[in-house]
Amino acid sequence: MYSKDKIQSLQKSTNAFIKKEQDTSFEKEEIEQLREVLRFHENRYYILNDPLISDFEYDQLFKLLQKIESAQPTLITPDSPTQRVAKGLTKDFPPAQHLVPMLSLDNSYNSDDLIDFDRKARELSGLSKIEYCVEPKFDGGSISVIYENDLLVRGATRGDGVEGDEVTQNIKQIHSLPLSAKFSAYGIQQIEIRGEVLINKKNFAKYNEQIIEEGYAPLANPRNAAAGSLRIKDPTEVAKRNLEAFTYHVSYFSLYKDKPLPEQLTTHSNTLQLLWDLGFRSPEKEKKVFKGIEDVIQYCIHFEVERDRLPYEIDGMVIKVNSIELQDKLGMTSHHPRWAIAYKFKARQATTKLIAVEYQVGRTGAVTPVAKLDPVAIGGVTVSSISIHNEDYIIEKDLRIGDAVLIERAGDVIPQIVKPLTDIRTGKETNIEFPKECPVCKSKLFKEAEEAVWRCINIECPAQVVERMIHFVSKDAMDIRGFGDANVRKFYELGLLNDIPGIYNLDFNKLIGREGFGQKSIENLQVAIEQSKTQPLHRLLYALGIRFVGETTAKTLARSIHHLLDLKNKSLEDLQLLEDIGPKVAGSVFHFFSNVSNIDMLQQLEKIGLQLYNAKKESVSDGNLSGQTFLFTGTMPTLKRSEAEAMAEANGAQILTGVSTKLNYLVVGENAGSKLEKAKKINTVKILTEDDFLKIIGKK
Ligand code: IVH
Repeated sequence: MYSKDKIQSLQKSTNAFIKKEQDTSFEKEEIEQLREVLRFHENRYYILNDPLISDFEYDQLFKLLQKIESAQPTLITPDSPTQRVAKGLTKDFPPAQHLVPMLSLDNSYNSDDLIDFDRKARELSGLSKIEYCVEPKFDGGSISVIYENDLLVRGATRGDGVEGDEVTQNIKQIHSLPLSAKFSAYGIQQIEIRGEVLINKKNFAKYNEQIIEEGYAPLANPRNAAAGSLRIKDPTEVAKRNLEAFTYHVSYFSLYKDKPLPEQLTTHSNTLQLLWDLGFRSPEKEKKVFKGIEDVIQYCIHFEVERDRLPYEIDGMVIKVNSIELQDKLGMTSHHPRWAIAYKFKARQATTKLIAVEYQVGRTGAVTPVAKLDPVAIGGVTVSSISIHNEDYIIEKDLRIGDAVLIERAGDVIPQIVKPLTDIRTGKETNIEFPKECPVCKSKLFKEAEEAVWRCINIECPAQVVERMIHFVSKDAMDIRGFGDANVRKFYELGLLNDIPGIYNLDFNKLIGREGFGQKSIENLQVAIEQSKTQPLHRLLYALGIRFVGETTAKTLARSIHHLLDLKNKSLEDLQLLEDIGPKVAGSVFHFFSNVSNIDMLQQLEKIGLQLYNAKKESVSDGNLSGQTFLFTGTMPTLKRSEAEAMAEANGAQILTGVSTKLNYLVVGENAGSKLEKAKKINTVKILTEDDFLKIIGKK
């Protein structure tokens, strides 16, 4: 949508604005230019996935615009990038009539269904071959958005298809939906666009990880997460979910007086192109146009293989007659358009029976109920047990032993129970009684106010001891290969392992001759244990299994200290000064480091030779290169590459491994070679000599 010249001139303005950071006296035109620059970078980031500036630089520009606008509020425009940021809570979501009812699509499951669909369309139209446009069927929440005179004026959920909920403020949190778009350039005065709101798999996993850490039940799939997010009353909460949207259909438009029908709206494929050109994320890159149904079928089959590789969930493909004139001619039945059909991929849902509930005790003492199921295959995986999270979840879903249950395994998400099939209950189902005492050590269970989880608070509880060790050796923690759940349990039962320091004092002689422990596997285990001693501090911090301390928090904490025991001297207030650490996390960390036996354990670990110092402490994130990316290439006159990288990191920079648009600075020595050539082609990479670099970091 941006020409090469335009990109270059916007990039020039970007640099000029970055320099003007302190200035707030701007002319109206200049402010609009800054907005255009910000919109351009949003498009690069959210739609093209190929940013030209760092997040830090974007934030600088955004804050500059905020500053200018607060100095001159009369100059704020409704489509200014700052206007996505919401003020206050949404009171309610009033009903919103769709301009054209939102129909659903008829489904097909195999090639015969598609051949049938094509035959009917050909018969009705009298054509011998029909041109189709095929695109993914996004699995999220459907929305409709209206633009009037180029401005986004309303966003609504599907509702019953005729009337949905008005959720404009929440929809504005979706960066892949522009707040304004130049429809007027095509003569369009008003337009209603359909699309799907999604959470990508990575953000969904991050979100679920966070709510599990907080003791709540995770969401079953990204679809529920996306659809549910649109109805949250606090738009800042909505913004945190990182929603995305694909737009794939124009349901209505009106033209300015005397304007002709734009050619772009005469085929579906061109409509997707038009939306893309105007800054929307349409399936422009995923769509394909075919003459005849045979190639359509091939594309659908081919795409099912791609399904798991995509960053977001799709549950099929949508096949649409490409000509809009022909679409109108074919019209619709009372339920579905005759010009489009969904081709559904293999279901990831199945029904089975809930046979029993078992209870597991985790490393923090949380007692988790696990539903045992009649084994059932979903998407190539057999599922026989599923976590049902906590007592509230069981009550809310009204689960009973003996129930038939609908289960789902969405992409990479762990399987979940969607619901019990209450209509086919026989009356023989029994209630699930949550235990009052720990199923392992029999101590009384406790539940804190406002928590959903029952806990065993006996920290010597064998289940907790074992789970803490399992967590410690796990892949994302100390990554001690060859240890694994089974060995931790086995060694514990054999009395060879009682606590975390014990991992490093294992008596390997006692393993010799035991089943599964040949000389080679013992040696491998020994090496893996030894190697884990040099794991970076943030991994050790995460491995300790402190409540609410996930991998990200562990990194934040590690960055703030020189030595692990420095955390012993941090007050609750100190901890809360750190990024994204609130009272709950701070409280938990404080509690952990106030406990004498924990400190004793850490001292033992240090004696054993574990890495309690922060090797990377020199890399302060608020150094003067914070947010900047560097790459060093060629032989430099005085510095070794590793030294130069360490110096850049010590100033907050991030080192990249290759030249891309994400790179800010390439520092070149002699014989720089291909990296330099590549960087020259990307006009945003600044090329420095060693001397320039030393000046930037104040060493010259
Ligand atoms: S076209 C009148 N295209 O699937 C036809 N729908 O039952 C308008 N969906 O409610 C829909 N991806 O929420 C269309 N590429 C796509 C789609 C898509 C997902 C959803 C949409 C609709 C449902 C169909």
